[in-house]
Amino acid sequence: MILNNFVVFEGIDGAGTSTQLKILQERPESAKIDFSAEPTSFETGKFLRSLLGGKISLDPRTTAYLFAADRAEHVYGEHGIENSLKNGKAVIIDRYIFSSLAYQGVSCGRELPRMLNKDFPLPQLLFFFDIDPEKSLERIKSRGVTEIYENNEYLTNTRKQYLDVIEEYKNLDFAKGMNIVIIDATQSVEEISKIVWSHIAKLPIFNS
Ligand code: TMP
Repeated sequence: MILNNFVVFEGIDGAGTSTQLKILQERPESAKIDFSAEPTSFETGKFLRSLLGGKISLDPRTTAYLFAADRAEHVYGEHGIENSLKNGKAVIIDRYIFSSLAYQGVSCGRELPRMLNKDFPLPQLLFFFDIDPEKSLERIKSRGVTEIYENNEYLTNTRKQYLDVIEEYKNLDFAKGMNIVIIDATQSVEEISKIVWSHIAKLPIFNS
């Protein structure tokens, strides 16, 4: 199922999705948009943050289940995506099922993340911020703190998975209504924000 007015930003660590989300939050149109991210700020997401920070170590399969559980709360929970859309808002989020298909695809193979994520609804618009891991790691290092997946080998494999997943979704019948926009994430923040807005401005919520 595809949810209208639902937008997802994806990319490897350091690709710049959070920066673009912040820019959108400053636009006057943001009054019509609910913004969030995965891992979420719910208890399920806080647990995942400890994992990403290296405080807890778990089997990669357990991690795949935990990301899917956090996503279930994000989509179906009282303060979740479905309810925001029902209340007439657009929803724009940083990371979704494609993160699991790419990152957990690397750590536990294709099958488990696909099985765990096959029933979640799809966005109307998916942005993939594409960047070479060497460049994204430079950005991450300048921030100071690093998380468990933030190394060249892991991110190189994750980027490959992302590109494969995008090809796969372009050809899936049930994903036909999902618009996929690949962004060269090495462009300036201003250039990217113009491209991003040119697509978001076409959503039904801004044209009715
Ligand atoms: P971020 O807050 O900087 O986007 O970091 C979230 C990290 O969690 C990032 O390394 C990607 C990872 N992640 C997964 O591995 N699987 C998932 O399903 C999600 C949502 C995130």
